[in-house]
Amino acid sequence: MEQIRNFCIIAHIDHGKSTLADRFLELTQTIEQRKMKDQVLDQMELEREKGITIKMQPVRMRYSHRPLMAADNKPIAADEYRRKSVLNQRQSAEVEYILNLIDTPGHVDFSYEVSRALAAVEGAILLVDATKGVQAQTLANLNLARKQGLVIIPAINKIDSPLARTVEVTKEVAKLLLVPENEIFCISAKEGTGVEELLQAVIAKIPAPLGAKDGPLRALIFDSLYDSFRGIVAYVRVVDGKVAVNEKISFIATEATGSVKEVGCFVPNEVAKEILQTGEIGYVATGMKETQQVRIGDTITTKAQSTSLREISRRETNSKFPNIEPLTGYQTPKPMVFASLYPQDIDEFDALKAALSQLKLNDPSFSFEQESKEALGRGFRCGFLGVLHSEIIAERIQREFAIEIVISRPSVEFEVTTQKGQLSVKTPTDWPDKEKVLLIKEPWARLEVILPRDFFSSVSQLMLASNGILVGVEDLGEERLLATFEISFRQVIADLYDKLKSVSQGMASMDYEILALRSADLVKLEIWTAGENQDALAVIVPRKDAYKEGKAIVEKLKNILPPQLFEVALQAVVEGRILARETLKAQRRDVTGALYGGDVTRKKKLLERQKKGKKELKGKGRVTIPSKVFLELFRA
Ligand code: GTP
Repeated sequence: MEQIRNFCIIAHIDHGKSTLADRFLELTQTIEQRKMKDQVLDQMELEREKGITIKMQPVRMRYSHRPLMAADNKPIAADEYRRKSVLNQRQSAEVEYILNLIDTPGHVDFSYEVSRALAAVEGAILLVDATKGVQAQTLANLNLARKQGLVIIPAINKIDSPLARTVEVTKEVAKLLLVPENEIFCISAKEGTGVEELLQAVIAKIPAPLGAKDGPLRALIFDSLYDSFRGIVAYVRVVDGKVAVNEKISFIATEATGSVKEVGCFVPNEVAKEILQTGEIGYVATGMKETQQVRIGDTITTKAQSTSLREISRRETNSKFPNIEPLTGYQTPKPMVFASLYPQDIDEFDALKAALSQLKLNDPSFSFEQESKEALGRGFRCGFLGVLHSEIIAERIQREFAIEIVISRPSVEFEVTTQKGQLSVKTPTDWPDKEKVLLIKEPWARLEVILPRDFFSSVSQLMLASNGILVGVEDLGEERLLATFEISFRQVIADLYDKLKSVSQGMASMDYEILALRSADLVKLEIWTAGENQDALAVIVPRKDAYKEGKAIVEKLKNILPPQLFEVALQAVVEGRILARETLKAQRRDVTGALYGGDVTRKKKLLERQKKGKKELKGKGRVTIPSKVFLELFRA
């Protein structure tokens, strides 16, 4: 255990975590040079395409070095590595260390991944981009790491870039962490400068794991995935004891039991081992197939432990595991953004259900419940942590399970009061159509924006235009500000982030937390085709924007809906009033084409008959909307 170090790299998005992980992997020769590619830990195809980390990825590295010893035989503090005189001192014998690194995502929608990774380690490298400085997720992730009581090693990255402001950013980070500037590492993950010193600092500064080596097994599940051969694979941090193949295990929270099919570690692909010991990070293949039985945050223990003691004191403690304290799990975050998900092919409903359960193993932060809509059949109402999260889940279903789906536009959850009482409206389907709405409330958010002083005025104007309120400004030094706004969460999930990036030339970053509900004047905007309400097309919008939004939707619909045999009215309706209308012209079919010569009366007769037929159709005709129209319409 003395030779194990477990750590994470945390940072704002794009500050270079995955690139730094690449250098560590090269340095420790974990991956053969010929197999090395950029951001090798971003293993999902989607991650590589988007250039972002979505899932945390653990990897075990081996690294031998001679720890530098100070006079009293203690390892030297990290900042002293840089002092040449110390480096030249007598060195101790070479020691091989096992370094378990977990690479984490940077985007705010995936901070739940970060918090789980942090609970499995003892320390974190806080990486800050020298061209950007401290940004919103730098602060958010630093706070998460502090809450876990982790040792934090600050490092400034991209010092090779011509745009690097290394001196200023070092000052900024020193001020943020209240540490002297010479404690901060300056590196280039791209070129490798300073990377080895940083890895040695991980060994020197981050404590080895503690835990009872000979105690009963306690392993914290921090991630999991479904494998059709080996059953559910739990990613674990062994806190006490050990776990080996064929051992009987129990899960404390779900009370499920199973036997270990395989244990191993990540290098970064799974490599089987005989045993996982205290302090190690690895995986346990459980052979279990029921997705509810293995829960992230649960504690695994050995079955022998639980059964032998169960008989003795079950009556007193009412627990199957009287002598085993479950590890602190994770509070699953509350989904804040909702969207409906339907299979494009209605026969794939069951397959979609299975896909959602399996994905939930890998990402417990989204929720789903069954719903149905006339136009789309049976599907699911899903809750997500943000819009990017909803897009990623939708993409993963299509790629990993080959199910084509339709996903509605994401919305927040509203609280609607009618005479009959209060109800929660997550999608427009929940809207109380038949009752008078007395009050609507919507969630608000507290938005923290970090920005260069020069952009303060344009960012403030943007927030004001989105009905945001400026509540405070803090000077971070080095010409940078932390501006706090309160704004409706509906605006945040619209396209506030993109707008913020564009008004600040990419320099501002934001983070948010949800505040209490506040009242709002919102209406349900219905879309009717040929006089029939198309439930699946309804949206909830501010009353003052209803006309503009309604007009935009019917105009778009006119362009993407395939022509029908009859003329179709496309109407935007609020509270029974038509706000906007477009007409989709009937499809022209050449009914006279088969006629030769000049029999005009016959031609007229045929055209008359067609006209009459179309009129009748129009009276009773229904429009079936193909799923690709939903797809196009919901695309922002
Ligand atoms: P997310 O996982 O999406 O949060 O990003 P990340 O923090 O893992 O960043 P990533 O390693 O993907 O790097 C982002 C970009 O910065 C890439 O284009 C890298 O090539 C570039 N980059 C990373 N490190 C350096 C560096 O030291 N110098 C320079 N010039 N560019 C770097």
